[in-house]
Amino acid sequence: MILVTGGAGFIGSNFVLDWLAQGHEPIVNLDKLTYAGNRANLAALQGDARHVFVQGDIGDRALVARLLAEHQPRAVLNFAAESHVDRSIHGAGEFIATNIVGTFQLLEAVRAHWGTLPAERQADFRFLHVSTDEVYGSLAPDAPAFTEQHGYEPNSPYSASKAASDHLVRAWHHTHGLPVLTTNCSNNYGPYHFPEKLIPLMIVNALAGKPLPVYGDGQQVRDWLYVGDHCSAIRRVLQAGRPGETYNVGGWNEKPNLEIVHTVCRLLDELRPRADGQPYATQITTVPDRPGHDRRYAIDARKIERELGWRPAETFDTGIRKTVQWYLDHPDWVAQVQSGAYRDWVATQYGAAAAA
Ligand code: NAD
Ligand code: DAU
Repeated sequence: MILVTGGAGFIGSNFVLDWLAQGHEPIVNLDKLTYAGNRANLAALQGDARHVFVQGDIGDRALVARLLAEHQPRAVLNFAAESHVDRSIHGAGEFIATNIVGTFQLLEAVRAHWGTLPAERQADFRFLHVSTDEVYGSLAPDAPAFTEQHGYEPNSPYSASKAASDHLVRAWHHTHGLPVLTTNCSNNYGPYHFPEKLIPLMIVNALAGKPLPVYGDGQQVRDWLYVGDHCSAIRRVLQAGRPGETYNVGGWNEKPNLEIVHTVCRLLDELRPRADGQPYATQITTVPDRPGHDRRYAIDARKIERELGWRPAETFDTGIRKTVQWYLDHPDWVAQVQSGAYRDWVATQYGAAAAA
């Protein structure tokens, strides 16, 4: 049995689905079901006794203690977080509450439980913390990619809160001996990605005939990884990672945002051409830049390859095609996540006209 937090979100739900597709070890899934958490992502597991869903907060120490005592997991994997940079700019409170204080409470509950285990189970236990490359800050165009030795230089409220959580996890290892693992991953994309993030937003806006809002000059670079590859990296780190170590995870796919948007448009032109025959790229518009916008992220993923033999299975071409096709095949999911609260966010971020 493993305990996963945030398993109704984008990466967490992909992880839960992949885990149970590849083996039979059960999962307890603790998720608060914020706007980003969605039970529909886990619909395929309805009636599957290997998946126990619990709605709750990682910051609820008593609840976590009860789940640990009841289910005796061999590992806790922490995906739960507030994850959207733009939301952290509008208001950082939830980011501090979940990403920092919540991680602290979770660590304390896990530490108390771990302390009661016999020595052999203590040694085998793992706390795996899912983190981001954004903690390293922004790279100059020609700078080498982030290695695990790169200093932490977070620039957004989101990345600062994730950096703080990484430091807490590290400290609980060095001070208390908790067997922790941390992964720092680049930008993910794939099924169940909430359409506030670049790639799914572009797909759903394109199909709805809406503008495709590119921040600033669109030349910011991200290193894209198909979500299934992130999940396989996490499984591998859990299986063979050395406690106390951090592992960078990336796809060796650095691309400027504008190129990503054009790729999405080209795929839609091929797979679902516009009724008027015009290319989707005519919908691209530029909007004011994100404050404090990091110019470039790039992950040096040689450590996880060298030590654990992990490499991504998807290229960007194969992963983005699958992703666009998934959104075309799941209009009901798209309609369901674009609820009233979603429209409120679009109005806040892009203006009332964009939400209409
Ligand atoms: P997401 O926003 O899609 O999902 C987050 C999930 O956590 C949601 O299901 C939400 O309900 C849940 N949650 C939020 N607060 C909670 C709380 N207090 N208690 C319990 N559950 C709570 O995020 P994601 O994109 O799936 O990211 C998952 C993790 O991976 C995050 O820690 C994020 O920092 C990290 N990460 C994301 C990316 C990416 O590109 N999306 C890349 C690298 C790392
Ligand atoms: O690098 C890993 C991180 O990737 C994760 O830790 C975060 O949780 C995840 O949200 C993501 O952060 P980004 O800020 O890089 O992702 P986002 O999809 O919000 O934006 C990607 C790029 O696209 C970024 O340079 C901003 C730009 N962008 C985004 C949106 C939503 C636009 O140009 N227009 C948009 O409307």
